[in-house]
Amino acid sequence: MKASSTPRELAFWHSLGQFPSTGRKRLGSLESVSGKTPESYIVRTFGCQMNEHDSERISGLLESDGMRRAESDDDADVVVLNTCCIRENADNKLYGTLGHLKTWKDAKDGRRIVVGGCLSQKDKDIVQTRAPWVDVVMGTHNVHRTTELLAQSIESGPITEILEEAVLDDHALFPSALPARRETTFNAWVTIQIGCDNTCAYCIVPAVRGKEISRPFTDIVDEVRQLASQGVTEVTLLGQNVNSYGRDLSLAARRDGENVAARPQFAELLRNVGAVEGIRRVRYTSPHPKDMRLDVLQAMAETPAVCEHLHYPLQAGSDRVLSLMHRGYTSERYLERLVEARRLIPDLAVTTDIIVGFPGETEDDFVRTLEVAAEADFDSTFTFIFSPREGTEAAKMTDHFVDTAVVADRFERLRAVVERSAWLKHQAREGRIEEIVVEGPSRRDPSVMSGRTRQNKLVHFTSPRALRPGTFATAEITRGAPHFLEGRLVEVLAEPTHKIRIPVASVNV
Ligand code: 5AD
Ligand code: SF4
Repeated sequence: MKASSTPRELAFWHSLGQFPSTGRKRLGSLESVSGKTPESYIVRTFGCQMNEHDSERISGLLESDGMRRAESDDDADVVVLNTCCIRENADNKLYGTLGHLKTWKDAKDGRRIVVGGCLSQKDKDIVQTRAPWVDVVMGTHNVHRTTELLAQSIESGPITEILEEAVLDDHALFPSALPARRETTFNAWVTIQIGCDNTCAYCIVPAVRGKEISRPFTDIVDEVRQLASQGVTEVTLLGQNVNSYGRDLSLAARRDGENVAARPQFAELLRNVGAVEGIRRVRYTSPHPKDMRLDVLQAMAETPAVCEHLHYPLQAGSDRVLSLMHRGYTSERYLERLVEARRLIPDLAVTTDIIVGFPGETEDDFVRTLEVAAEADFDSTFTFIFSPREGTEAAKMTDHFVDTAVVADRFERLRAVVERSAWLKHQAREGRIEEIVVEGPSRRDPSVMSGRTRQNKLVHFTSPRALRPGTFATAEITRGAPHFLEGRLVEVLAEPTHKIRIPVASVNV
């Protein structure tokens, strides 16, 4: 079964609380229909924070319908795969996983499989053609429909529903507006924008996430206030191109005849979110270097809650490659902005993304990437090997694909350069006292605590007692390693204020 309604039609049905193809169904109402109500679920997430955030909403929707989270596949009635297609052979991995899940499904009656996210948005009907045992295939604009689609599949069999565009109502557009089951109590993601209007030649995101749509300013600030009232102290603002936030809002307002002098600016948003009482740390990801303006750097510098961390994706050092990628900046402009950022924001940590082996990248181009990376002196770098994504401009440049062995060699050379600067940056922090927010016991050694500094560096530190996640503390840094810091607790600054859920026997006291 396939939904063919346009977003506008769907928005209309939403407003009536009904849906054209399925009728609105809650899982809880199914028992009388089929006697097969699923009770537990597990969500497996692949990819970026945007997907992590969507998964929180999928979990929140399922829980608000009475389901509980399972600890393992064995214990689950429903497995949700929230997929990513940005790099690597995600397709092969997905169909491999679905092969295993067929065995899981066949082992017990009533088990269900849901596939959502970017890969299903891209593959559409192909998912159920290749894996007909999947019950629900939904796209990136359908998260809000999770429970209805699951209910529909229980009643009438497998369903694929992919909306080509976001539905024009707040709940459908922004995952933040749906109920959530957050993994942590002290920090939260807040979507400020979905989609992307850029045309980076290698990138599949615009095809699977749609055009750029900004969330209304007051909705964002209201959500942050609400989070703060629940004890959240740290928020991360999410968007594909956060510093173009608001561009579409003012265009729409002008079209409607409003006299809008200037669009709401990302800088203004940073200041307003940073001013919310109780919010002690504000982060954001990701800005685009071509749109990075002085006012954003000034807002970062002047808003105490905004952390001293900038994720600033370089992608390549050669201007020729940057131009082939359609990035809209030169390495010189990139480095100038970086100098400005470091001048305005003392103790700024800078992280980046770099792609190796973009089609046509020559040895000279690559050497330029090494030079720019060395000059930029990053705190940490995410390095990626170019991966052709069907439907993107770069995937068609097959005549210029770089030999695999050459790419592997370049990747190692780049890793050596960026690890050297990361390690030096980390060593430079030895002896300093850093503010840390505790995340929990370290995965490697439960007697050691882990937390994050304002610069977003992971610190493993010794503490005479276990500290609750969300505790603000200071630690002295004793050692800088290439990918983390080590330290010892100095002082606890503030215990978390979020409420611990205590089981209540009766609410009628
Ligand atoms: N191949 C390799 N890396 C990619 N990225 C995005 N698309 C591709 C691709 N096709 C990287 C970019 C981006 C990060 C999230 O993923 O560096 O910033
Ligand atoms: Fe992809 Fe470029 Fe948009 Fe980032 S800015 S999501 S790399 S198209």
